Amino acid sequence: MTGVEKVSLDWSKLGFGYQKTDRRFIAHWKEGRWDAGTLTEDNSLHIHEGSCALHYGQQCFEGLKAFTTKDGRVVLFRPDENAKRMRRSAEALLMPPVPEEMFIRACEEVVRANLRWVPPYGYGASFYLRPFLIGVGENLGVKPAPEYIFSVFGSPVGPYFKGGLQPVRFITSEYDRAAPNGTGSVKVGGNYAASLRAHEIAVKEGFADCIYLDPATHTYIEEVGAANFFGITKDDRFVTPKSNSILPSITKYSLMHLAEQYLKMTVEERPVPIDSLGEFVEAGACGTAAVITPIGEIVHRKKSYTFYAGGKEVGPVSRKLYDLLTGIQTGVVEGPKGWVHEVR
Ligand code: PLP
Ligand code: COI
Repeated sequence: MTGVEKVSLDWSKLGFGYQKTDRRFIAHWKEGRWDAGTLTEDNSLHIHEGSCALHYGQQCFEGLKAFTTKDGRVVLFRPDENAKRMRRSAEALLMPPVPEEMFIRACEEVVRANLRWVPPYGYGASFYLRPFLIGVGENLGVKPAPEYIFSVFGSPVGPYFKGGLQPVRFITSEYDRAAPNGTGSVKVGGNYAASLRAHEIAVKEGFADCIYLDPATHTYIEEVGAANFFGITKDDRFVTPKSNSILPSITKYSLMHLAEQYLKMTVEERPVPIDSLGEFVEAGACGTAAVITPIGEIVHRKKSYTFYAGGKEVGPVSRKLYDLLTGIQTGVVEGPKGWVHEVR
């Protein structure tokens, strides 16, 4: 994987944005079966005007990253977990699941076909893969689509929240991204459409994003924008919310494992009341795009909660977890078996 001439980009200055890369993967489902899929240079889709993805939100997506390791390999981080989550998302919206083998092969093919766009080691950048599954074909009534497209494209990216490991501020929202027994635990576009207004309000008020509370009672913390929440208590416990309207973050479950097995911390996944934020000395947002973003401050109904160093610095436990996670992803720390998947 070494020796590829890279495109000319300032890798250290990348944000989280779309960059057209060379080729993407596309496969079609028709009459009960998937075709083998192919790579294409065309970054536009031509779909039927009646497509269920357009009218009724019948679509789901994933997000995962490829990294260049210190010794020059290119690896995907836990793609099998993304494949499994996409299967759950597809099943929730009555879409045909993408076989795990095809999901991983598509990601590998897109990485191989765009190696010159995969950021080199050492810039804090990665190659973000966006697999998506959409219901297409002629239709009008509310029912599952007759045909489906599965596609994966990729883009080199830097930090999702400006500043990387710099703490950022969040405010709770009065809006919900998902219903109590709805689609919050699967990665479907409707959840994100429902989040746009809350996000915009938070940003206009000077915050990085909003925090969603549990949609039934608005008393427990759920998600931090498009990332999960964690807090570290004074006595070094790693605490993260449990709820069936939260997206089960692969990063979050990875951090729980690292906290328990590598840092010997106690890990608690349980409801986290918003008025108990005072128990945390550190807090963070975690996700593929967000990695670990330290939370400096949370404002909830005019009350402010600040975390490590008055919200001005990343705390020591968050930093250790960040170093472990990114170390595993870039091959400088030995991770649990199967966490990195080499693209050969
Ligand atoms: N929560 C939401 C709403 C998300 O969109 C994401 C991103 O995928 C996450 C959490 C983090 O999940 P993961 O760590 O699997 O990327
Ligand atoms: C991710 O972390 O992969 C996300 O999906 C976050 C956002 C860009 C939707």
